[in-house]
Amino acid sequence: MKPLTTVQQRKLEKAARSAAKVSYSPYSKFRVGAAVLTESGKIFAGTNVENASYSLCNCAERTAIFSAVAAGERKIRCVVVYTPTKIATTPCGACRQVINEFGPESRVISICDSADHIDTVLSALLPGAFGPENLA
Ligand code: THU
Repeated sequence: MKPLTTVQQRKLEKAARSAAKVSYSPYSKFRVGAAVLTESGKIFAGTNVENASYSLCNCAERTAIFSAVAAGERKIRCVVVYTPTKIATTPCGACRQVINEFGPESRVISICDSADHIDTVLSALLPGAFGPENLA
């Protein structure tokens, strides 16, 4: 997979941090932001959107990915997630499955409020993933 440039990585990190500011998280008060880089080089940001019916909460990562898909972008190269924590955290299981659908070879970078970070790939977070090819 094409490596990210430093500029692209900085832009993704900035977009993820910025998206967290518009988080709709009145229940958890946990403001998360995400940004994805698509194959065509575009960046889409997203934040977590909660609901009074708690199980309908949508994570920042999925909001970002769904925005990309809604704009016609179906190939994701990188996901950056920002959490307002001291320790970086990786995407939840549901988001890993959605990342797999559009970017099984994605790089996944987690950043937070300290210098701590995680820089990994989706295949390490979701080994043996069930994907579109398994429906054949
Ligand atoms: N959340 C995300 O948006 N992304 C993550 O990676 C972890 C969790 C959201 C879901 C919910 O709105 C809140 O954080 C608490 O779980």
